[in-house]
Amino acid sequence: MNENIKNRTLHGDFHLLAFSSYEEVRFLLFTGVLLMYVLTVLANVTIFVLVCLESHMHTPMYFFLCNLSVQDILYVSATQTKLMAITITGNTSISFPACFSQMFLFTVCLTTEFLLLTSMAYDRYVAICIPLHYSLIMRKNVCALLSAVSWSFGALNSLMYTLLLSNLSFCNSQEINHFICELKSILILACNDIKGIMNLIFLEGVLLGLITFVLIVISYMYIISSILKINTSAGRLKAFSSCSSHLTIVVLFCGTSLGIYIKPVSEHSEEQEKLLSLLYVAVVPMLNPLVYSLRNNDVQKAMKKYLKYK
Ligand SMILES: *[C@@H]1O[C@H](CO)[C@@H](O)[C@H](O)[C@H]1NC(C)=O
Repeated sequence: MNENIKNRTLHGDFHLLAFSSYEEVRFLLFTGVLLMYVLTVLANVTIFVLVCLESHMHTPMYFFLCNLSVQDILYVSATQTKLMAITITGNTSISFPACFSQMFLFTVCLTTEFLLLTSMAYDRYVAICIPLHYSLIMRKNVCALLSAVSWSFGALNSLMYTLLLSNLSFCNSQEINHFICELKSILILACNDIKGIMNLIFLEGVLLGLITFVLIVISYMYIISSILKINTSAGRLKAFSSCSSHLTIVVLFCGTSLGIYIKPVSEHSEEQEKLLSLLYVAVVPMLNPLVYSLRNNDVQKAMKKYLKYK
């Protein structure tokens, strides 16, 4: 029995069921994911290139946006390419190394995005609420530290889970009822005792997720209250609209991903969870560049400049 477990663990493939229960709309699904993927990559590459080219955009805010763009490109490339391949070919198998690599990258990006969004909210808080201290607080090395912490914490955290999960045996089923290899849907297939890891995920979700979420919301509350003190109603409206779109993204991203990771696993809700996951796996990375940058005046000006130049 033990030998058997080991063999299957070493040589088997996982199967990502993805959206195989929606066989009739396979091409529609493929086209949809392809469109979202292309749009996301294009928008994020545009931001990255613009910020690099424009020297007056070499400020903390745009550096963080650049980080977010790089993270989003990595995030969608790690997840949506395999999903597209599965939908178009119908071949659901994915090797163990590929599956664990995907899980590693996906978890790095997920954790890093939380921390980057928090850094960005803090940056905006300092810029709007205590503008006189901005250049003193958001010094170059402070920003570099914030971004280095975000990335290295994301990587270490993900490495820990990948190592923990790669020691498990998958002896019953190797069918992952999800469109990506992610922590929880792999965990529930293991025949080992997974209580410890489940508790760790829950604890981390509560600590890291809720704390960053609350910090972001508090930052924006301060921002909104200082916006209300602006005298002209046009200025107020403009600041308000950018603030509310940032908050929408944060609530959408944190709400869906945290909701799914904190709530206990149940077999009955897997289908809904899969659809809900599309929000933070595909929709948020696509909206990020639109909400944070492309609606921004500096970015629009820079874009016009380069389009004319051509
Ligand atoms: C990420 O942000 C840091 C700090 O602002 C910056 O130094 C770095 O160049 C950024 N990296 C990328 C890839 O945008």
